[in-house]
Parts: sequence; structure tokens; C-alpha cells
Amino acid sequence: MFGRRNEGQPVPRKPVVPQPAAARAETSAAPAAASAPAAKSPVAKPAAAKPTARASDHRSENYYQIKTTIFNALIDTIDLTQLAQLDAESAREEIRDIVNEILSIKNVVMSISEQEALLQDICNDVLGYGPLEPLLARDDIADIMVNGCERTFIEVNGKVELTNIRFRDNSQLMNICQRIVSQVGRRVDESSPICDARLPDGSRVNVIVPPLAIDGPALTIRKFRRDKLMMNDLVQYNSISQEGAEVLGIIGKVRCNVLISGGTGSGKTTLLNCLTGFIETDERVITCEDAAELQLQQPHVVRLETRPPNLEGQGQVTMTELVRNCLRMRPERIIVGEVRGPEAFDLLQAMNTGHDGSMGTLHANSPREALSRLEGMITMGGYQLPSKTIREMICGSIDVVIQAARLRDGSRRITHITEVLGTEGDVIITQDLFVYEMDGEDENGRIIGKHKSTGIARPAFWDRARYYNQHHALAAALDRAQG
Ligand SMILES: Nc1ncnc2c1ncn2[C@@H]1O[C@H](COP(=O)(O)OP(=O)(O)OP(=O)(O)O)[C@@H](O)[C@H]1O
Ligand SMILES: [Mg+2]
Repeated sequence: MFGRRNEGQPVPRKPVVPQPAAARAETSAAPAAASAPAAKSPVAKPAAAKPTARASDHRSENYYQIKTTIFNALIDTIDLTQLAQLDAESAREEIRDIVNEILSIKNVVMSISEQEALLQDICNDVLGYGPLEPLLARDDIADIMVNGCERTFIEVNGKVELTNIRFRDNSQLMNICQRIVSQVGRRVDESSPICDARLPDGSRVNVIVPPLAIDGPALTIRKFRRDKLMMNDLVQYNSISQEGAEVLGIIGKVRCNVLISGGTGSGKTTLLNCLTGFIETDERVITCEDAAELQLQQPHVVRLETRPPNLEGQGQVTMTELVRNCLRMRPERIIVGEVRGPEAFDLLQAMNTGHDGSMGTLHANSPREALSRLEGMITMGGYQLPSKTIREMICGSIDVVIQAARLRDGSRRITHITEVLGTEGDVIITQDLFVYEMDGEDENGRIIGKHKSTGIARPAFWDRARYYNQHHALAAALDRAQG
């Protein structure tokens, strides 16, 4: 049978394939884990106190013992190097055959459903990401946060919940982290304890391990959404009103330079992705990201990604270098996934020099804070410019700041659409077009509020809208928003 190890002739294994010893340590959730009450977690928030019960979490200790025995026997039988060369389906078939054989040799009595579950678990351990697999398979999860082997949290519908997913120990978790980062040609260990990576499906991964992470490896996964949210979805979720969405569409179409501001996980990248939907198909767009998340639908897009230094500390390509290089690629629009450093200067310059309609996101809690953070990034980048000059440059470049927020009930809202008008003396003048006003909360603790137009009938980008023949649509949307 293909994939079996030859008797007495152990075949050398590829590093990316789990080593028998390592794999043996990966026998999924441990017996103790299966019965430990997750709700006792001292860090569990009230909402997190109710662990997500999944069928696989209630297996008996006996099940885990059988699984360990079968798993070890499998690892002794199978040739992992050859197995790695099979496609996932054939590898599963191979494992299925061998496991069935082992079950009958060892005279193990199990129900069909238990056998199926066992097989699934073993395949996950050998071929995939072990206990994480069931979470990765779910489409409703936004984030998976593993805090050491004992606790795994997920974010579902904007709420963070503790799950019953456990790893046998930190070394199993470490092995899984290693497997994830090795797919992008990286390693994570004591000497390089921080690593960004991506899963094959595009999910963004960050790993930080001891000694920096004190209680065991911390793994954070931003799950990739295959069905990316579109502007209509944001309207449906009340993240923005219909009129607000129309104004955002016009902002995207008429090539305003846009900064999307918001906290962690507030929906900045999602909103940026939605806005890029309004870019014409004949425009040449270049995207620069740390981890490619954007999904532009236009045909003329060049996607660029920064590169971290290799193990010898070499080969790094920073966002600044990418943005600068962009300018030599004849871009019409430049999209920067997240502005967090000196590249702010280069982006502003690009916006100022004929690359209208460029966009970027930035971490800040209000439009004003976004602008001052931008100024801070430029100052910190070592540009010896007076702050008045930097502010004038910001005003000359950014047309609109859109603020995204994740509210305390877990919902995501666009809280401001704000124009940057200019400077008066040293101060940047802004004008809100739309704001989200909270009115209270309903009986389920959900926040009630409304997007309100501030009554501005002629935004500063009116002439731009007229140039692109969008002024009637703009006037109509603003008019309706007031009504
Ligand atoms: N308006 C929305 N309504 C519901 N879910 C949303 C909304 N916007 C974003 N999400 C979901 O929230 C999660 C985080 O979104 P996103 O990646 O856009 O946030 P972010 O602000 O870019 O995060 P980060 O700061 O980590 O880069 C994703 O799973 C996304 O699908
Ligand atoms: Mg983001």
C-alpha cells in the first residue's frame, strides 16, 4: 500500500512533514482537556463564560486513550514522506485504510460514528492543524485567538467566546505554529519568536512564542472570508445607512484620497475592500500590504506585499520601499493596506502628485486622531519638517477620513465620514458629513442609533463630483439623508 513505511527501512522525512515524535505529541485534545471545565477560566468575560459546546468536546477519556494508541500505531506504520506527496483526499483514504486495519488488529470496539470521529481527528493531526481544524472549517468565525494550549477564543458575530478547544500541551501547539509558518518558508522558535504568516486559504496569522509569550505560544488568526462583505452587506448590517453608502460610493468613484481610520478589528480592511469596488475597471491600481488581504475585482491590479527579514536578518522589504517603488510603476491609484510608519510620507506625496483616489487604513479612534497620528508617523520617520508644513501636506493630500468602529455590543459601524478642508493657522479644519449617533440600547443589549447627515449640502469634493458627473447623485443622497 502506498505510503506505508518499509519494514526496517525508515525513510528520511521532509522537514515540513510532522516528525513521528512531534506528531505523537499531537494527539489532539488531551483527556484532561476533554473534561476540564472551560468556563472556569479566570480571564473569561461574562460573554465568554459560556463555552461553545461542540460534539467533539464531549468525548470520553476512553476515546482519547484509544486515539493515542491508534495514532502511535499509525505513525509507526505510515511513511509520512510519501504521504506528504499525496493529495489530501488520497492521503485521507490511505490513513482511513490503515486506521481500520489497526482497529481490527487491536480488536478495538467502536461505533461507526466514533470511528468516523476518530478518523477525522487523526487526519486533522497528521495532515492539518490538529484541534484548530474544526474552527478553521467554520465560516462564521472572524478571529481565532489561541492563548497557550489551554485556552482558545473565537470571535463570532462581533462577540468573543471561549471555546472548548484544547491542545494536548504547549509543544503540540508549538508544532502546529511551526507547521503554519513553515508553509511560508519561515521558522518560529526562541531565537525568532515572532512571525507573521498566512494560511493557504489567505487567513492572516501571527505567532508569538516563549520567551516573549510568557504562558505558551500565542496564535492569532484573522479568518479569511471567502464571501467578502460588500457595501450592500454593510448597509444590511446597519454599519452604514443607504444614503451614507451612496456617498461612500461616490467618494470612491470620484477619486477622493481616502484614509480609513479605526481600532483593531473594527472593519477597516473590509471597508477599504468595499471602497475599491467603485474603482473603474480601466484604472491601474497597485496595492501594498503586509499580508495580502484585499480582493480587488478589477483586471488591472498589481498586488505587492512587504517581506520580513529572513533568519539572518536580511532581505527585508519595508512598506516605505514598496510605496516608493509603486511610484515607478505608473500607478493611477495606490492602495496601502495599513499605514503605520514612515510610508505615510510617501503615500501623502503620491496622493499629492497625481495619484488621486489613493487610499489607506490607519489605527486611530477618531478622524482627528487619525490626522494627528499621520503627522506623528511622518515626524517619527525622521523627516525634519515643521509641523505646519506637515499639516498643510496632510490637508493637501487627504480629502476624506472614514471612521470605523467596533461598538461594545460587537457590532461594526461607520461612525464618521469626515472631510479635510484645510488649515487655519496651525490647525487642520475638518467637517463631518455623516455621523453615527447612539440613542441607547435595546433589551438585548444591542446598541440603537442612527446615521445622520450633518446637513452639509455641498461637500468640499463637490467640484470633483461634478467633474465625474456624480454631483446629482451626491446631492440626491445628501438630500435624502437629511429628510
Ligand atoms: N460592517 C461589518 N459588519 C460585520 N462584520 C464585519 C464588518 N466589517 C468587518 N467585519 C468583520 O470583522 C472582522 C474584522 O474586519 P477587518 O479585517 O476589516 O478589520 P480591521 O479593522 O482591518 O482589523 P485589523 O485592525 O486587525 O487589521 C472580519 O471578520 C470582517 O469580516
Ligand atoms: Mg486590517
